[in-house]
Amino acid sequence: MQKFGHFDDAKKEYVITSPRTPYPWINYLGTQAFFSLISNTAGGYCFYKDARLRRITRYRYNNVPIDMGGRYFYINDNGTIWNPGWSPVKTELDSYECRHGMGYTIITGKKNDLKAEVTFFVPQNYDGEVQQVVLTNEGKSAKTFKFFSFAEWCLWDAQDDCTNFQRNFSTGRVEVVGSTIYHKTEYRDRRDHFAFYTVNDTIDGYDTDRDSFIGLYNGFNDPQAVVAGKANNSFADGWSPIASHYKEITLQPGETKTLVFVLGYVEMPADKKFEADGVTINKEKALAMIDKFNTPEKVAAGLAELKAAWDKLLGIFNVNTPDDKVNRMVNIWNQYQCMVTFNLSRSASYFESGIGRGMGFRDSNQDILGFVHQIPDRARERLIDLASTQLEDGGCYHQYQPLTKKGNSDIGGDFSDDPLWMILSVGSYIKETGDWGILDELVPYDNDASKAKPMLDHLTVSFYHIVNNLGPHGLPLAMRADWNDCINLSCFSDTPGESFQTYTNPKFAAEGGYSKIAESVMVATLFTYAGPTYVGILKHLGKNDEAAKAQAEIDKMKKNVMESAFDGDWFLRAYDANGNKMGSKECEEGQIFIEPQGFAIMSEIGKEQGADKKTLAAIDERLNTKYGLVLNNPAFTKYYIQYGEISTYPGGYKENAGIFTHNNAWIICAAAYAGEGDQAFKYYSEIAPAFNEEISDLHKTEPYVYGQMVAGKDASRFGEGKNSWLTGTAAWNMVAISQYIIGVQPDFDGLKVDPSIPHEWDGFKATRQFRGATYNITVENPNHVCKGVKSLTVDGKAIDGVVVPAFDGGVHEVVVVLG
Ligand code: GLC
Ligand code: GLC
Repeated sequence: MQKFGHFDDAKKEYVITSPRTPYPWINYLGTQAFFSLISNTAGGYCFYKDARLRRITRYRYNNVPIDMGGRYFYINDNGTIWNPGWSPVKTELDSYECRHGMGYTIITGKKNDLKAEVTFFVPQNYDGEVQQVVLTNEGKSAKTFKFFSFAEWCLWDAQDDCTNFQRNFSTGRVEVVGSTIYHKTEYRDRRDHFAFYTVNDTIDGYDTDRDSFIGLYNGFNDPQAVVAGKANNSFADGWSPIASHYKEITLQPGETKTLVFVLGYVEMPADKKFEADGVTINKEKALAMIDKFNTPEKVAAGLAELKAAWDKLLGIFNVNTPDDKVNRMVNIWNQYQCMVTFNLSRSASYFESGIGRGMGFRDSNQDILGFVHQIPDRARERLIDLASTQLEDGGCYHQYQPLTKKGNSDIGGDFSDDPLWMILSVGSYIKETGDWGILDELVPYDNDASKAKPMLDHLTVSFYHIVNNLGPHGLPLAMRADWNDCINLSCFSDTPGESFQTYTNPKFAAEGGYSKIAESVMVATLFTYAGPTYVGILKHLGKNDEAAKAQAEIDKMKKNVMESAFDGDWFLRAYDANGNKMGSKECEEGQIFIEPQGFAIMSEIGKEQGADKKTLAAIDERLNTKYGLVLNNPAFTKYYIQYGEISTYPGGYKENAGIFTHNNAWIICAAAYAGEGDQAFKYYSEIAPAFNEEISDLHKTEPYVYGQMVAGKDASRFGEGKNSWLTGTAAWNMVAISQYIIGVQPDFDGLKVDPSIPHEWDGFKATRQFRGATYNITVENPNHVCKGVKSLTVDGKAIDGVVVPAFDGGVHEVVVVLG
């Protein structure tokens, strides 16, 4: 088993020491509007706000070899051609290192005494990627070499860019002024934006036409201009515009030269697009941007500002537990990943092309749970954007495009779980901030301002969307799918190419498009888990009748679940459209599913009869593996037309018995909730990436972030991870470790501290900023229990219960003794 680097916790970096990672290990630059993906060999691309509609540089997914296309620097040192990041030329380097940090990446390569260190970052409040190249001659004699930059432009709409060649090969346009190359395709007509690539020095040449630079029959690994050691000063006219600077550099022994490149994006007011000639780009804004980062001093200041911003964000919640790996995940990487998932939902990663999906309603609401403490104002804005795409009956568009913020009608709605996540996310926002005002905010339905209602109304229709759509057992209708996109109980698809997500069998047309028999137990238990948040909100507002009415619905649902959906040792998954049980001992395959169990336990359904402990035992026995809990067991080995997509996956992969780390977190929460701190921590450590660093060659994806899925025990590649970065696992594991295991949980009236930890721990310390005050929390565990608060003092005064009041500012010492 092998690692490919190590954590540098003091710098909050992961240090990759070999370019040949088992998969490209990436980082994200930018957290506001301009985003870049960057791999450990500088592959990747950038976009503005929307990876589909405003793609700035081009990238080819599923390429051979992998990860081709990025921002590349080429060095031709007397015939030895190499890149600081090894790829794409792949000349063996004398040394290589990639440091992925919080919003920046530093790649350093050395060859024949020439060292090139490249720092990439997107500064705060800046629509561009800054790339600082520091070249040092570490040898004993002078060196003269040729230096080239390279970026390939995307013609803005990434979908169109990779399909519509008959048009796109004729539209590409550029402008070159001094050391700046402007990309202005379609700027003349309907677009008010352009991009540029510049360097803070004179250049000896450039290329803007890809075929001239690379050569029609060459590749990124041997661009003909670099091989020739000379730029062509080519001018793109259609085909594929690129930007490449060329400079000949001489360095004396020990001498260093620093170049600062900026790859920027500019939007112009429609009436100020051009200079007086009506043709030339008005560069006022671009020049101002360039001026902001045209010296190493300005770069250093920008980087320092970025690091300070991250220190501040990560200072909001901090732990010091006996386990370094926990500290590393909680204090650095898990929180960092939560920012990325908050920003990008499931749109752009090395497994998501940026084309297929915008912001998911379900996904983004859940992402808020792990992010809200970082920048509550941005969470608030997102909640309003999401709620604005909701329909008046409480249903939701499943996705929206970030650029337009409009619901996406291609994918439509009718996912049965969607509305419930919004109750949880709005609840978590209020619990974090105490900002009850959000409930009065007027929020449109279906993006139609004339249909605006207060946010509270959105929660009400969300809650009753479930209540109003129940099936024969009084359980929620399954509709097209619930959280599990691949359980499509109204699909019955037998035709290749039909999308399981959007196709519903015409036989259900008369019933309104989906089966009125198929029911989801998962949505039932999510309802009983999320419902109390809605009730809590109503009570706080003094709407006691409405609260009682909602509570009655929750109680009824719990009763229905216990009567019709408890299988003796665990909860059923669903009733299919034929009225048959799914996820039961009676089934041939797929006897137990993970999804409904955690929420059922946390809703205390059947707790008096011991349903919680029985369920936890069954999970441990049937679902657990050394790499986490599989989603269902036994895996499906054939196609069950009545279940839909789930049984199309080979056993052990994805939704068919893969280890979906996302809902592992629900079980971690549930085990902790039920007092089983050891069990909770066992599951946590099976999937938390830092714990799997030692098996990176098997695990394959980045050891610093969660992936959506690890191959399950039925797969031949058991333990292999996929789909890293953009997953609800980031938020949910943040919730699991911080709110359930560490047990620091914002509540409507204060900060709850109720840990559920491994019994070996002597205790831990945590710091939490909450509503303007700072809480220094010390937890002592003298009797080595998992859970149970014996005493709690705040600033020396004992408190009843486990909720620390919200203070107006100040620093407060909280001491909790377990026992
Ligand atoms: C993916 C989707 C998420 C879905 C899950 C299970 O993670 O992003 O929305 O719930 O798969 O299908
Ligand atoms: C969604 C989910 C994924 C699922 C797929 C099915 O995109 O992310 O988990 O496998 O739908 O098409």
